[in-house]
Amino acid sequence: MLLLPSANRVYANASPELARAELAVFSDSVLGGALTDAEVTNRSGVPYLEFTAERLTDEATTFLSQLSAIYALFEADGSLLKPVELRRLDRYDDDLITIQKYQGKTNEQFTKLLLNVTMMSSAFAPELASRRLAVFDPLCGRGTTLNQALMYGCDAAGLDADRRDFDAYAAFIKTWLQRKRIKHHADYDGPVRRDGKVIGRRLQLSLSATKEEQKAGLVQRLDVVCADTTRAAEFFRPDAFDLIVTDAPYGVQHGSRTAAGLARRPQDLLTAAVPVWAQLLRPGGAVGISWNTLVAPREQAAAILAAAGLEPLDSGPYLQFRHRVDQAIVRDVLVARKPGRAGG
Ligand SMILES: C[S@@+](CC[C@H](N)C(=O)[O-])C[C@H]1O[C@@H](n2cnc3c(N)ncnc32)[C@H](O)[C@@H]1O
Repeated sequence: MLLLPSANRVYANASPELARAELAVFSDSVLGGALTDAEVTNRSGVPYLEFTAERLTDEATTFLSQLSAIYALFEADGSLLKPVELRRLDRYDDDLITIQKYQGKTNEQFTKLLLNVTMMSSAFAPELASRRLAVFDPLCGRGTTLNQALMYGCDAAGLDADRRDFDAYAAFIKTWLQRKRIKHHADYDGPVRRDGKVIGRRLQLSLSATKEEQKAGLVQRLDVVCADTTRAAEFFRPDAFDLIVTDAPYGVQHGSRTAAGLARRPQDLLTAAVPVWAQLLRPGGAVGISWNTLVAPREQAAAILAAAGLEPLDSGPYLQFRHRVDQAIVRDVLVARKPGRAGG
């Protein structure tokens, strides 16, 4: 596997090791552990991630094609490399993911890694290409996770307390859908009232990648709410989502808003919010969170997830996602499963 050249800029020197950990999660989850001996190699000065596999079925190639850092895949025959055609699931032009630029955006390649690792850790991983999974980002900012989920053909729901983020994302997605002439319909766009009071704002859209799909009633749903994340259960029903994927505030660019005001520590926000998010997750589903370990240690984040009845995955490749982003941020990924479904 040849890594995307941009991966180096995003992760500095950590990109091959992160790709190796992501590959290991895929192998264990949907490939029956069939990929072995993964190692970072160097061919004529270019780094590759090389691994052994008996034979790659089309299905296996489809899964590998979704790896967040994959640029090209080859079958190695001695010193010769034979290209293997990738089978990407991408349903839309990739500017859906790349156009928006703003301070505090979670890097898109990392967002894909987080979504992938969470998906592969859920009981629903084998269904990625065959069912419309429902993905929720409860701190969605301007929608990086939502856009990646839409790319995969998932339903996407998001929530953020910041009105500027909500407005910017709503404006972006509406313009983008129009400009790309993608068939869509606004199901709701406006304030949400309860007992006469406005408790948030909401944008609900249905979209279809092609006219044929629209005719056949195949639609993806996008549902974005502006409200405090601890109130998520007022907007979404229990067991609504297969996956919850979120990049928590870093205590640098964004603070974490809690009832007590703007806190620097994301653990206060997570303590209040994770039990609410856990209710919205279907048994067999998984939660994936990334955060800054310089402000909250991994054990603390794992304890918060466990206290909400989730099962943190804390061994093997799951311990290999920690990487430095800049001087103030050392990011890590923590995934936990919701028990209760056979095989989940
Ligand atoms: C690291 S950013 C996520 C960025 C997002 N992934 C993106 O690429 O746009 C964390 C987000 O958490 C939001 N946030 C912090 N406290 C919150 C709360 N109590 N309820 C809802 N959102 C909150 C912030 O507004 C911020 O957008």
